[in-house]
Amino acid sequence: MNTIRLHQPILDQGLTVKQAMMRRHSTRDFFSKPLSLDTMSEVFWAAYGVNRSEGKRTVPSVYGLYPLEIYGFTAQGVFKYNPEDHTLTEISDKDLRAKSGSQDYVAGAPLDIVIYSNYDKFSTGNSEVDSAVKGNEDRLSLLDAGAVTENIYLYCSSEHINVVERAMVDKNALSDALDIPASSHFIVAMSVGYPPIPA
Ligand SMILES: Cc1cc2nc3c(=O)[nH]c(=O)nc-3n(C[C@H](O)[C@H](O)[C@H](O)COP(=O)(O)O)c2cc1C
Repeated sequence: MNTIRLHQPILDQGLTVKQAMMRRHSTRDFFSKPLSLDTMSEVFWAAYGVNRSEGKRTVPSVYGLYPLEIYGFTAQGVFKYNPEDHTLTEISDKDLRAKSGSQDYVAGAPLDIVIYSNYDKFSTGNSEVDSAVKGNEDRLSLLDAGAVTENIYLYCSSEHINVVERAMVDKNALSDALDIPASSHFIVAMSVGYPPIPA
């Protein structure tokens, strides 16, 4: 399987955080052109990338457990993001974008992102941690995912890239297509792409 080495983010370009918040919005129209490797790299880094030498991330996570698993669907295949070394691992060479959502625009978006939570990450062997998180896996996963999706929204806003968050997904069909283990639970999806060229 192919591994794609992503680029490091360029930190001194884009809008201020406040400007990005001001223009954040959902858009469901996309130019079919694939995202550049630079853009893909920054989308995944914004989502769940490492931002400190000790390996912590762009989003907070309870006890630093980082239960989320982030997949990217493109015309070239399906890739899993590895935050630790900022790479993508190919898990399918098929174009499965249409499986990642039930709305028409999803199949034509250059990048569809799907977020799962691996509930095994909530079993650490540390009794204090495990008793704090046990029974709260759904809530804690949703909180992480909310931070991830907002980071992607703000990054896209800052770079004038179109994006929408999506809950309308046939999660069983999707998990079957990807052969996702039972310990991983679908949380939410997003579509990302450059704006269409004005007519
Ligand atoms: C959890 C969540 C699920 C959503 N699911 C969908 C969806 O399945 N399809 C869609 O087109 N938009 C979806 N949206 C986008 C919302 O429709 C959108 O955020 C809302 O209309 C407000 O518009 P704005 O994002 O431009 O402020 C979702 C948003 C959130 C936060």
